[in-house]
Amino acid sequence: MEIIIRPTPEAASGVTANLIARLLHDKPNAVLGLATGDTVVPLYRQLVAMKLDWSRVKTFNLDEYVGLSPEHPQSYHSFMWENLFQHLNIKKESVYLPDGQATDIPAYCALYEESIREAGGIDLQLLGIGTDGHIGFNEPTSSLVSRTRIKTLTEQTRADKVPSFGGQDQVPHHVITMGVGTIMEARQIALLAFGRNKAQAVADAVEGPITAMIPASILQMHPTAKIVLDEPAAVQLKKADYYRWVYNHKPDSQRF
Ligand code: GLP
Repeated sequence: MEIIIRPTPEAASGVTANLIARLLHDKPNAVLGLATGDTVVPLYRQLVAMKLDWSRVKTFNLDEYVGLSPEHPQSYHSFMWENLFQHLNIKKESVYLPDGQATDIPAYCALYEESIREAGGIDLQLLGIGTDGHIGFNEPTSSLVSRTRIKTLTEQTRADKVPSFGGQDQVPHHVITMGVGTIMEARQIALLAFGRNKAQAVADAVEGPITAMIPASILQMHPTAKIVLDEPAAVQLKKADYYRWVYNHKPDSQRF
């Protein structure tokens, strides 16, 4: 794992935006795995400002709430179009998001997996992290080899979503999410986490044991995972000084 600690969310997002820009430069038909949430908003803003060519890019989003229509203001479809896709030259048919209204959910999830395979797999998967250590919507006790499927949200995650939904009874219980195994097959992974309320989950994921109780801890088994943090999200890391030193003294060939 490479742990990158920057002073602010903007600086951390800049590092990640450069990583994506380099990928799209090297591989104009790259396949990106995308995430939602407050964490990725500054990154998406920076990507829009970079005016990259997205005409040959394909994207697969991690997850969606079951029961919400794409037009629902809190759906991840709405989030993605509002914050990113509408500002890019990406083709509508190159954008994949799980369908929260699928009727046969297991069959739909198998199809989603098949679409990722047909696209050649994910080159770079973006991730946020839940305060309970989830990635995508893989809640604690998710199988670490799981595939795209329906999951039930924990009360902690539902409470975290109250600000956007306006009340806990409005937050859906069920979601469709890429599995932990699906995520781990991405050739590159960048997990972003900002703010003190993510510090415990980050420390558990990065410096704790690998456990299904903290699904993000499986990233320790990924050959190239990058964990991109602002300073507050890094406050509980025991080896933070070491990570800072490593980043500041990287040989030029390893910079991105
Ligand atoms: C949801 C998403 C995750 C995201 C998390 C963090 O749970 N399914 O993919 O990482 O929110 O959200 P935020 O960035 O708003 O803290």
